[in-house]
Amino acid sequence: RKKVTTHRLRKMKENGEKIAMLTAYDYSMARILDAAGIDILLVGDSASNVMAGHETTLPITLDNIIYHASSVSRGINRSLLVADIPFGFYQGDSKEALKSAIRLMKEAGAHAVKVEGGQEIKESVERILTAGIPVMGHLGLTPQSIYKFGTYTVRAKEKSEAEKLLRDAKMLEEVGCFGIVLEKIPAELAKQVAESVSIPVIGIGAGPDVDGQVLVMHDMLGINNEFHPRFLRKYANLHEQITNAVSSYIEDVRSSSFPNESESY
Ligand code: KIV
Ligand code: NA
Repeated sequence: RKKVTTHRLRKMKENGEKIAMLTAYDYSMARILDAAGIDILLVGDSASNVMAGHETTLPITLDNIIYHASSVSRGINRSLLVADIPFGFYQGDSKEALKSAIRLMKEAGAHAVKVEGGQEIKESVERILTAGIPVMGHLGLTPQSIYKFGTYTVRAKEKSEAEKLLRDAKMLEEVGCFGIVLEKIPAELAKQVAESVSIPVIGIGAGPDVDGQVLVMHDMLGINNEFHPRFLRKYANLHEQITNAVSSYIEDVRSSSFPNESESY
């Protein structure tokens, strides 16, 4: 099948074809997800949580994301590879933002970058775009701002925040972003955003009336059994399956039933 491009994603929106996006952080999983037909693979700064065990996305570094993204890039043939610019590597000034984005493209093989925020980071977004690097926005519950929010609950329920989000989405489209992620906002607002911009809007906890969906791979595969937000649909229970597999192995080693004759030289 043909490679997914930012151009193709826009056509998908025009044709009403939904876009399927997941996160990936390593080569082996990226290979599976890519071969299964996923449209966009995101090397999210959620690696800070699910790969490194941090409580928030704030501690992960650009070098960490480059390591994960370069691993993922070696596992894909078809998907569009988007990499998050982590906290502290684009907000300070737009030149630093551009440098970070260039490193992700050059050293990690990313096809595009994602950044959190609207008006506040407009200059950084614009400067990255001047280098020909596609940018994806991210609005709503932006986890890099968790200490400002103080809670992981639904964003933009109030009129003023909803209006700002709509303005930010239009601004991101106007400056030339190729897509926007909307995280944990009312479905009705997400629908309004998707209808008012011509670029694809990808939701996570943003209801069905957007142009595509994204989930964190570890969450949808049920690797983490302690995370059950309403928006999460679990497509597997790998926590249980892995636990069972490892328990069987331990049992077999202890009882000397592994390895058997046919597994020996
Ligand atoms: O880092 C991440 O996994 C993300 C998605 C939830 C959109 O930004
Ligand atoms: Na992220």
